[in-house]
Amino acid sequence: MPKIIVMADLHIVPANELSHSLDTSERTRQAIDFINRNHADADLLVIAGDLADRGDAASYRRLRHLLAEIDLPYVLTLGNHDHRPTFLAEFGDVAEPETGKMDRSLVLDGCAVVVLDSSEPGVPSGRLSAAQLEWLGRRLAEHADRPVVIALHHNICPLHNQNDIIILEERDVFVDVLKSHRDIRAVVSGHVHMTSCGSYRGIPFSTFAGNHYTIEPTLQSLSGALPAPVPRREGPGQIAVVIVDERSAVVLKENFLDRHLVLAQELFPMKLRDTEGQIASSETSDATVLS
Ligand SMILES: [Fe+2]
Repeated sequence: MPKIIVMADLHIVPANELSHSLDTSERTRQAIDFINRNHADADLLVIAGDLADRGDAASYRRLRHLLAEIDLPYVLTLGNHDHRPTFLAEFGDVAEPETGKMDRSLVLDGCAVVVLDSSEPGVPSGRLSAAQLEWLGRRLAEHADRPVVIALHHNICPLHNQNDIIILEERDVFVDVLKSHRDIRAVVSGHVHMTSCGSYRGIPFSTFAGNHYTIEPTLQSLSGALPAPVPRREGPGQIAVVIVDERSAVVLKENFLDRHLVLAQELFPMKLRDTEGQIASSETSDATVLS
């Protein structure tokens, strides 16, 4: 049974630029080096979206050079910071023909891995089209006798924080489709830049911090009030390691970068949104994170 590495939230920017003070290309280099050194026995690396911070051609070109250093077989999918037409212009006609998006279905050593593209250019929340949900249902039927691991950019469950307004919109119909299969082992996402695990309507999910800055879990939204400023930290840079055997799937989180400093709030000049997702102010704020 396989070992699958998941990397996410690379947020590559063009040469000579930083993203919120971070050299995201150098961090991606470090992640790839860590995986090559420590996980040469893995069956697959999934790179689960937010590949380029602004979805621009120069960043995708830079990414392509970085990916050349990966020793493992890998698959790419997209996140809300990506721009599918620009990505495809750089990487070629690599979308799944039946959905037009970066979806993949593979079988590794008796386990199915289904990778879904939950991005919609310009939309922060996650979207799965009707064509994707139908495609997923067909793939799950093909994999009826195997365990299945799912990877996508957006989280499927609210985490009681300010990012809950930009999670996967079709999560309930998505879970309905997943429930057509008897052995969904794990749903792994990036997007939130934080570590979590739990279940959503009986489906096990987890998120991991990824390559970019990390976000402290905060629970203020439970009170209904706008969240207080949320600390964002330099790291750790983090990957997920999914190990599947006959009975289990374990999703481990491994840090490839040992950084924990809080980043200056001024580095995040984002729009403040209220609890309904409406823009309430455009002043510098830590209240909303577009991960
Ligand atoms: Fe991100």
